[in-house]
Amino acid sequence: MRKGSIAALLGLALIAGGVATAVALVPTWLPEDASQQAGRIAFTFWFVIAICIFIFAIVAAVMVYAVVKFRVREDDFEDGPPIHGHTGLEITWTIIPFVLVTSIAIVSAIVLSRNDAQAKDTLRVDVTAQQFEFTFSYPDAGNVTSPVLMLPKGRSVELYMRALDVIHSVFVPEFSVKEDIVPGLVTQLHVTPTRLGTFPLECTELCGLGHSLMRSQAVVMEPAAFNSWLKKQEKGAAPSTTTSTTSTTSSTTPISPAQAGLMVFNQNGCSACHTLSAANATGKVGPDLDNLVSYARTAKQPLESFVHQSIVDPDAYIQPGYSKGVMPTNFGQVLTKEQLDHLVTFLVQSARKSGNK
Ligand code: CUA
Repeated sequence: MRKGSIAALLGLALIAGGVATAVALVPTWLPEDASQQAGRIAFTFWFVIAICIFIFAIVAAVMVYAVVKFRVREDDFEDGPPIHGHTGLEITWTIIPFVLVTSIAIVSAIVLSRNDAQAKDTLRVDVTAQQFEFTFSYPDAGNVTSPVLMLPKGRSVELYMRALDVIHSVFVPEFSVKEDIVPGLVTQLHVTPTRLGTFPLECTELCGLGHSLMRSQAVVMEPAAFNSWLKKQEKGAAPSTTTSTTSTTSSTTPISPAQAGLMVFNQNGCSACHTLSAANATGKVGPDLDNLVSYARTAKQPLESFVHQSIVDPDAYIQPGYSKGVMPTNFGQVLTKEQLDHLVTFLVQSARKSGNK
């Protein structure tokens, strides 16, 4: 009889544990690791899941067994016998959770401290977040900036992150690390990429109308390729880094002001919010820049000064149908005078080209 009960309990536990294990292992729950940190975090994750499956199997087995075995007869209306104070049982159900929870705490503490441990040659990257774009700059390389996070494979990287307006948060699922960026603070995030490739980098804090568009990429390159990219950026007047391809256009040929303006447009994430066919931009948050000619007419201003004003003082005139305070008001300080002139030239030219709609 007793032997039979134990066998039944064991069988039920195996079934419950087997089902739970299949649910844990068969679907792909986590993206493939692309950083040292991700491997450790995945280990912690599966360590906790294994404990959960173990507990679930025991609880489910005892519950199913009790429901079947101790079911009352139809005509039985009596209470069960009162039972309390089983010291052995109480000690058992205190010690087991204590051991399990403590082991999770120890594993997590080790993983956290290892994940934050910087190597000697840690690369510093400054991250600026604002509605609705990230800018990455490399202070050890003449503050080269990029709209995409370029990283060398296998090197420890520390991100120093600042927000210009509201709270943002940076997350690369393949790296498994994530950190908020809070105005007034410099938050840090440490990562050591281990796999070549281009991974999505996204803002994971609701930060305004364009939040869902606040996305960039983390590109992990071979260290040699990364160094030559950095050198090239440092030398040239920061040739545009198109987001999808690692373009290797030579930066030796002089470029026109309008072309320079397109670079300013791309580097400052304008495409996240604006549509502009000349830049292949399809953002929908802000006014459609293909219609600048007609907007300027509505605003009763000459096109050029209208465009200039809309960049440095965006709230001065609001196109009907759009909201005040969405466009960052700091471009007057962020852009150099030259960059601003190029951007205006580019926008005016492309607006004229896209027809006086
Ligand atoms: Cu920035 Cu959401």
